[in-house]
Amino acid sequence: MPDKVDMEKIVSLCKRRGFVFQSSEIYGGLGSCWDYGPMGIELKRNVKDAWWKAIVQERDDVVGIDTSIMMHPKVWKASGHVDSFTDPLVECKSCHLRWKASEIDNELTKQLQGDAHPSTPLIWRGTCPKCGGELTEPRMFNLMFKTFMGPVEEEASAIYLRPETAQGMFVNFENVLSTTRKKLPLGIAQIGKSFRNEITPGNFIFRTREFEHMEMEYFVKPGTDEYWFNYWVKERFDWYVKLGIRKENLRLRQHGKEELAHYAKDCYDIEYLFPMGWSELEGIANRGDYDLTQHAKHSGRDLSYYDGENNERYIPYIIEPSAGVDRSVLALLIDAYHEEIVEGETRAVLRLHPSLAPMKVAVLPLSRNEKLTPLAKKVYHQLCPSFMTCYDDSQSIGRRYRRQDEVGTPFCVTIDFQSLEDNQVTIRERDSLAQIRVPIEELEKTLEAKLKGESFEASPLWATRQK
Ligand code: GAP
Repeated sequence: MPDKVDMEKIVSLCKRRGFVFQSSEIYGGLGSCWDYGPMGIELKRNVKDAWWKAIVQERDDVVGIDTSIMMHPKVWKASGHVDSFTDPLVECKSCHLRWKASEIDNELTKQLQGDAHPSTPLIWRGTCPKCGGELTEPRMFNLMFKTFMGPVEEEASAIYLRPETAQGMFVNFENVLSTTRKKLPLGIAQIGKSFRNEITPGNFIFRTREFEHMEMEYFVKPGTDEYWFNYWVKERFDWYVKLGIRKENLRLRQHGKEELAHYAKDCYDIEYLFPMGWSELEGIANRGDYDLTQHAKHSGRDLSYYDGENNERYIPYIIEPSAGVDRSVLALLIDAYHEEIVEGETRAVLRLHPSLAPMKVAVLPLSRNEKLTPLAKKVYHQLCPSFMTCYDDSQSIGRRYRRQDEVGTPFCVTIDFQSLEDNQVTIRERDSLAQIRVPIEELEKTLEAKLKGESFEASPLWATRQK
C-alpha cells in the first residue's frame, strides 16, 4: 500500500488539529472512548448531514425518527440480542489479557458460527498472542452493556444500552405508518449512539465501545426484497464515491452463509482499504421478515401490513443499510490525506469534499496589524452567517495556510495592505493553490458559487483531488 497513510499520522493530525482527543485524557484516558474536538465535530456533523440529505431529504419514500437509547428489555429478547449477540472470549492465564477467540483460532470461530450454543463442546487450541501464555476455555460473552433502571439493582430492573438503533425503527413501524399515511416500500431512518462492550476495540475510532450509527430500515413487499437489496447496495456504495472516497479503495464483499448474522438472509459489506487492510465500512442486510415476526410474537401486536390496492396482507421484509459515523469519518480522513512537495517543503493537505470540510473559509489578515485588523474582522463577520468561517492572525501567513490545508479548509481569504486601497481580497484555493482577487462585495457570492453552485465533481478543484 505505497500511497497509504499510516494510522499514527492520522491519530497525530487528529489530536494536533482538534479533530479527536482521547476521552478523559487528563485522567490517563478511557480505553476505546474518544472525544470529537472543534474540527472533528464539524466533520462528523457534515457526514451525518450528507447521509440524512441522501437518505431522507432527497427521497419521498424514507422518513426520519429519533428513538430512545434505553428500550424495554423484551425488545432485546425478541431481537435475538440477549441470546445471540455474543462473542466467544478467552483470557490469558498469565497476563490476563482478553481476546476474541476468533482472533486466536479460526477453526473455533467456524464451529461457533455453525452451532453457536454455548454448551457445545469445542476443540480449542491457541496461546496468548501477547505473551504466549496458556488460555482459558472460551466463554460466550454478551456485547450489550447492562444497567439498572431505577434505584434497585436487581435483575427485574435490568435494561440494556442499545447496541444498534435499528430496533427503534422496528418497534415504531406501526406508529410511523399510521401517522405518515405512507405506503410500502417505506424506509425509516435514524442517526444515534449505540453501545457495544467490544472485547477488542481498537484502530483508533474504527472499533469503539460507544459509537454512532446511521441506519435505515426499508420495509418492502416479500418477493421484491432482492430487487431492493441490490438497489441499496449500489446506492450506498455510490454515496461514498460521491463524497470523494476513491473507488479503488472501496469494494463489496458478500457474507458467506456461516458468517451471516442470526437475522440475515443475505448481506454485503462495503469495505474500505484502511491502513490495517480491507475492513468493513457499512453492512447492507436483507433481514427478511425476521424482525417484525419476532416483535409481533413477543409483543402480541399484529405488525402485518395491509396493502389496500391489492387487497393483501403480509409481514414486510426489511432491507437495512447500516453505517457507522465514526468509521466513515476515519475512512474520509484517511482517503483525503495527502502529502506533496510545494516549493521544497512538504505540504500535508486534507482534500475533503467541500461539503464535508469542517471550515469552509479562513479569513487571514496578512499580519496582525492595527490597520488590517478592522477590515479583516469586518470580512470575517460578513461571512460567518453564510459559511463555517474561522479567523487566524497568529504566526506567518505561510504557517497559517499550512494549518488550514491540514484541516481541509477549501478557501483562504487574505486581506493585505492593497485591500485597504482597492477593497479587494485574495481567495486561495486549497487544492490547486490558485489565487484570485475579488472585490469584497462579491466575496460571498463568489465563495458560494465555488462551494455549492457548481458540482464539485466537475470543478477543476476536484480534478486535482482525484489525481
Ligand atoms: N443493525 C445492524 C448493525 O448494527 P453492524 O454490521 O453490526 O450492523 C453496522 O454495524 C456498522 O456500524 C458497521 O459497518 C460499522 O460501520 C459500525 N460499527 C459497528 N460496530 C462498531 C464499533 N464497535 N465501533 C465503531 N463502529 C461500529
